[in-house]
Amino acid sequence: MSFSRRAFLDRTMKVGGLSAAVTLSSGGLERILAASRDMEGVPPEEAARDELFWGQIQQAFQIDRSIINLNNGGVCPSPAVVHEAFKRYLDVQNMTPSLWMWRYLSPGKEMVRRRLAETVGCDPEEMAITRNASEAMEIAQFGLEFEPGDEVITTDQDYPRMITTWRQRELRDGIKLCQFPVPTPPGNKLELARHFEQNITPRTRAILMCHMVNITGQIYPVREVCDIAHRRGIPVLVDGAHAFGQTVFKMRDLDCDYYGTSLHKWLTAPIGTGFLFVKRDRIKDHWPLMAAADPKADNIRKFEEIGTHPAANINAINEALVFYHAIGAQRKAARLHYLKLRWAERLTRHDRVYLRCNLDPTESVGVATVGIEGIEPAALVSHLWNKYRIHCIAIGHKDIRALRITPNVYTTPREIDMFTNAMEDVIKNGLPA
Ligand SMILES: Cc1ncc(COP(=O)(O)O)c(C=O)c1O
Repeated sequence: MSFSRRAFLDRTMKVGGLSAAVTLSSGGLERILAASRDMEGVPPEEAARDELFWGQIQQAFQIDRSIINLNNGGVCPSPAVVHEAFKRYLDVQNMTPSLWMWRYLSPGKEMVRRRLAETVGCDPEEMAITRNASEAMEIAQFGLEFEPGDEVITTDQDYPRMITTWRQRELRDGIKLCQFPVPTPPGNKLELARHFEQNITPRTRAILMCHMVNITGQIYPVREVCDIAHRRGIPVLVDGAHAFGQTVFKMRDLDCDYYGTSLHKWLTAPIGTGFLFVKRDRIKDHWPLMAAADPKADNIRKFEEIGTHPAANINAINEALVFYHAIGAQRKAARLHYLKLRWAERLTRHDRVYLRCNLDPTESVGVATVGIEGIEPAALVSHLWNKYRIHCIAIGHKDIRALRITPNVYTTPREIDMFTNAMEDVIKNGLPA
């Protein structure tokens, strides 16, 4: 570590009151930026283990440390810099909403569009701002034109809301949803791509797939499936709820047709934020979910016709992106992978422990599921909460009965070890009667 960095960290950590005041006023962003500058040139895998650096990130969140939150897969807290900005925008918009919100804050959405597009490598004119992944994916799913008898294919591990959306189209439009099983954990991503290919029929008109599956953490081969689908003229709709903010990718490399995500998960933006990417040549013919003045317009904004919208939430996405880039996308991915390995490598030394995803960094990042043979996952979740105030969830899928463990950048290695110790105690002694 450089002298300037150590001196800077010592100074900011020791000057108690003053540093607290700085943290409150800026959310500690300047300390993260300084720490990041010192990390320049350090390989992400090495940076992932630098506890001085991650100490800065941990302090940027004002969270409840009386619990250990290993359920960031549901929804994530925002760091102070984002939360403070969100509250500031709310205060401003409330002064005279018809002026301060509509006239001054709402145009900030265009900056969000540009920043998101730059982050994921697409044209801003392909980027619609939504309230979450559900809204984004439903715009994609309901806007496609189908004939009765047309088929859409997806796995039996895709998210329930996207499944119910197709089910509604089955009832209204006479389409058919075909779900196929996938091996868990798979040998590798290419094996998964073959499953998609084998399930395409002459009636297949769309493919829905997750970029990262929420119940296992497995990363799916989006590019390979897109190549297979596009050779047959089939569009691919990607549910990226867990991938954006965890994995590093560019839309042009994925080459999918639609990509929806929430931003209140891994980007740590305010709750009620998401985006939908629509490939340029698909915008014109895609129906908006809520009617637009010209539903056949070649304008991505037609997918944002929800009426008066929450400008404060949307504008604070700007701060979330600044925070994300201040950490560094590669560094964040490497840290989440490191935290996952820290518990998974220790627990898998025990014969009764099973995992439901592949641990390689190209196959999963921070989300992973784990179980102990002979122990009911829901009972284990209750035990971890009641005895240790460790918060996680049980997955109850027909093929996956396990605990989903999802730390975040604010999670300390010590917290991970407390979870691992608690699990080892159960492996040794079982659950209390
Ligand atoms: C894979 C997947 N898709 C979509 C969603 C929906 O996200 P949201 O409720 O933010 O719309 C989730 C939420 O957990 C998810 O895990």
